[in-house]
Amino acid sequence: MIGWVTMTNKAITIFGGSGDLTYRKLLPAMYNLFVLNKLDDNFKIVGIGRRDYTTKDYVEIARGWMKEHSRKKYTDETFDKFAERIIYFKMDISDEEEYSRLQKFYGEENITEHVYYYAVAPSMFIPVTNGLKKYCSENHAKVIIEKPFGENLENASELNDKLAEFFGQDEIFHIDHYLGKEMIQNIMSVRFNNAIFKGIWNKDFIDSVQITAAESVGVETRAGYYDKSGATKDMVQNHLLQVLSIVAMEEPTGNTMHKEQFELLSALKPVENVEGNLVMGQYEGYLDENNIAPNSKTETFVAMKVEIDNDRWRGVPFFIRTGKKMKTRESQVIVKFKSNNDAPSNLLIIKVQPTEGIYLKFNAKKPGTDNDLQEVSMDFCQSCILENRMNTPEAYERLLDACFNNDRMLFSKWDQIVVSWNYVNKLLEKHKEANSPLYTYPQESMGPEEANKLTDWILDLEY
Ligand code: BG6
Repeated sequence: MIGWVTMTNKAITIFGGSGDLTYRKLLPAMYNLFVLNKLDDNFKIVGIGRRDYTTKDYVEIARGWMKEHSRKKYTDETFDKFAERIIYFKMDISDEEEYSRLQKFYGEENITEHVYYYAVAPSMFIPVTNGLKKYCSENHAKVIIEKPFGENLENASELNDKLAEFFGQDEIFHIDHYLGKEMIQNIMSVRFNNAIFKGIWNKDFIDSVQITAAESVGVETRAGYYDKSGATKDMVQNHLLQVLSIVAMEEPTGNTMHKEQFELLSALKPVENVEGNLVMGQYEGYLDENNIAPNSKTETFVAMKVEIDNDRWRGVPFFIRTGKKMKTRESQVIVKFKSNNDAPSNLLIIKVQPTEGIYLKFNAKKPGTDNDLQEVSMDFCQSCILENRMNTPEAYERLLDACFNNDRMLFSKWDQIVVSWNYVNKLLEKHKEANSPLYTYPQESMGPEEANKLTDWILDLEY
């Protein structure tokens, strides 16, 4: 494992430095870490892009984004101090020879320890790695890689081999920002530290689980990427399967979390019949968006039933659903318990976003002389408390900090990526083979009607 050597200059170099992700998430995350004094004094931020900016131009653009997106309070004074660390470096990252200029620049800035951030399309991963390998290989380096890692398993394996020519497996950090979300982490605290949940977290007591990540936004400015990817590869292959693995894995002991996640993902039953198990949709108006292929068959919504073939979960359906242009932006994990004496099922709801909290619904006696039941609830709104909001790091902030400190727990590993791709590839093949329809759904709805045949989605109901 690589640790920082003291007294050297360090930098995070962001390939894709003038992209949306950098402005919205990465630079604000770095600003927050700076405000919290978590960045070493000699830590620089190098934004790489093709545009003809000076560092001054770049800093001014970043300033505008920071005002809107930083969690920690923006002030001109703090930002100006932070900005002293930022350098813009213009280059064509697809041109291998350009990396000799980059190496020279690192020499001039005396930067010898690196975190490279690949915030670019997967098709750029190989040229960037080749360039770094050829010219910038003498220094310590880690790499953070954005999803999607490849376009399918075959392509992901090629990328993995290429990365392995330059980075050790311990230096590769596959980032999945859902793993950095406060309430996703909280799932483990709730599951493993409460006798009332720990003992009943299995097929004897749990009827089903629903995981929804609904988005109200559409494809926005990312049509080029999204139209080739679709909701299944964009959201399920990574974020939602990761969430599912945390909900369903065995309790890790020490640092066995990856192993537990991997084993859980390996136990997913491949979908055999699309009918009744998988529904895909596309929002009305998607084909009119800029840069979408005419007659595109890309799904912007997917809902599915996932089964886990192990002793804890055999027979318990996990329903997963995600889509764009839905009527709400809401992500939740809902655990529905088996009914007792025909009373309504208890529900445990982990609210991931935008509200963060935990909701529990159960049965109690209705006051009066009769012995009737009523459903009652306890609702803990974590994000309603100002102090909680102030102390909750953004996902990227948490993950960058973890990478800088060599904490790998919150990063996906290659074996997990392989099993997730395997599952998703088979699913997509089945959908194609079965010639299953792509349903159109109205914007501001909860997706196509057909998805409601999979289960009663609780998020759409009053609870
Ligand atoms: C990204 C996807 O990984 O996650 C986007 O590529 C999606 O399409 C985004 O919008 C959702 O993230 P969040 O944190 O807003 O739920």
